[in-house]
Amino acid sequence: MIFLKTPEEVNVMRKANLIVRDTLLMVRDRIRPGVSTAEVDKWVKDYIESQGARPSCLGYGGFPASTCISIDDVVVHGIPSPKRYIEEGQIVGVDLCAYIDGYHGDSARTFMIGKVSEEKRKLVETAEAAFFEGIKGITSVSRLGDISGRIQNYVESHGYSVVRALTGHGIGREMHEDPAVPNYGVVGRGLRLHHGMTLAVEPMINLGRYEVYTEKDGWTVRTKDHSPSAHYENTVVIWDDGVEILTM
Ligand code: MF3
Ligand code: CO
Repeated sequence: MIFLKTPEEVNVMRKANLIVRDTLLMVRDRIRPGVSTAEVDKWVKDYIESQGARPSCLGYGGFPASTCISIDDVVVHGIPSPKRYIEEGQIVGVDLCAYIDGYHGDSARTFMIGKVSEEKRKLVETAEAAFFEGIKGITSVSRLGDISGRIQNYVESHGYSVVRALTGHGIGREMHEDPAVPNYGVVGRGLRLHHGMTLAVEPMINLGRYEVYTEKDGWTVRTKDHSPSAHYENTVVIWDDGVEILTM
């Protein structure tokens, strides 16, 4: 079931999304070699709570932290640990959600730590560019496949692959609502979008092949070939006259 939001509901939803945005900006300023991923998670939890919100990921399906922190070949859902330290040259995906006034916001960035290889830099830049390519020119008369297909075409034309096993999603009163928003598809096909649809659009792209697997911890998703992976996500609203990004 897809829940369309009124402009008034979106106004309420802005708050959670702006907290998510500001949390990621705080992390961007502070993340550096030598900090553990558990420390980053604590910054996130403390900041979100200081804003009167709740970190939606904490306890979600049993997830044990407030932040998903995914380094190099980890695609998404990396679990923060006091034993895992951030190092120069890594690409670090930081994905987080906040809940306040009855709504969730969701966004992710992949941070480059110090000097990273050209290969990783281009991958990270392509994930971000793929998001913008996906939403370019989208309105309520577009179809879901317009977003999905454009992301896939853009990513594959640059020689990377899009993860198939995980998708973006609707978002609102629940962190995950319908519809699923795949990063692969056919332009012109699929569900018609609607005024007031709120979506988390989140390209997950790999330097190598698209196959991934989940570790025994039940969360950590890695590329099968251990090539690096990058993730970029924003919560957006589809309006009759275009797309509005809530987490920027
Ligand atoms: N931001 C992630 C997503 O888009 C949320 C995962 S939270 C977790 O699905 F708790 F499930 F890890
Ligand atoms: Co999401």
